[in-house]
Amino acid sequence: MLETRGLTVRFGGHVAVNDVSCSFAPGTLTAIVGPNGAGKTTYFNLISGQLKATAGTVSLDGQLLSGQSASARTRAGLGRAFQLTNLFPNLTVLENVRLAVQAAREGAHRRGLNLWSIWSDHRALTERADQILAEVALKAKEHATVASLPHGDQRKLEVALLMALEPKVFMFDEPTAGMHAAEAPVILNLIRALKKDRTKTILLVEHKMDVVRELADRIIVLHNGQLVADGEPSEVIASPIVQEAYLGLPAAGAEDASRHATAPIPAFPRAGEGATP
Ligand SMILES: Nc1ncnc2c1ncn2[C@@H]1O[C@H](COP(=O)(O)OP(=O)(O)OP(=O)(O)O)[C@@H](O)[C@H]1O
Ligand SMILES: [Mg+2]
Repeated sequence: MLETRGLTVRFGGHVAVNDVSCSFAPGTLTAIVGPNGAGKTTYFNLISGQLKATAGTVSLDGQLLSGQSASARTRAGLGRAFQLTNLFPNLTVLENVRLAVQAAREGAHRRGLNLWSIWSDHRALTERADQILAEVALKAKEHATVASLPHGDQRKLEVALLMALEPKVFMFDEPTAGMHAAEAPVILNLIRALKKDRTKTILLVEHKMDVVRELADRIIVLHNGQLVADGEPSEVIASPIVQEAYLGLPAAGAEDASRHATAPIPAFPRAGEGATP
């Protein structure tokens, strides 16, 4: 169980994440929604340790992670998509994924200089890396250098590296943002497959409401850094706060509110994004 208690971060006078207490159980995909600037990415950064909290705690399976480095949290099982700046741009896609697999299996490599063991490990690592690259449809690019990849392939590679870590908790922050429509299904299928493995905890920040509706077991809503709604997807989507604050519809209780309850839910508008989905 991943848990945040009173998690808060202040930037000067601005409280970007404000006293968020929430638990995330294995086998559950929780969608985190809210308008631009609501604090969703900042919440992820506080959980993963990229950012230091002003107050509050993060724990995983009862182990307190607050105060630990981002890499210690990764070892504890928190999987945040790598930022490509952490990669080796001049190594190939396959080499990078193999290094990530190796990092995750570090323990298995403390056997001294046994050449047979090193060779067979190397083969096993390559096989696992190959398998992951097939899952994210990047096999054809395995010998390309990371620096040469187009944007969509870079996003796939981020997910591949996350898979390589075999974490307990998968954190996806708009995993298909900026991808061509034809490429997004690869990532969504992977998330569907992860969901079937009922042991994983999945957190998904997503603006596309059709994706949220399909995948989420639960939705939480952040607004001005605060947790303002939490529950079963259809209830949260129909709740007055979501209807009013994000969809510009009249609050429940106002005349005709029920008329809108079954209206199609558009994606949350994003800054700098045109009308095309
Ligand atoms: N390092 C930082 N220093 C100062 N302010 C920051 C920092 N990181 C985030 N913020 C501010 O915190 C607020 C929350 O930003 P955040 O990126 O978490 O929003 P978000 O919900 O992920 O939005 P989006 O949907 O656009 O990705 C914003 O007002 C942002 O400007
Ligand atoms: Mg964000």
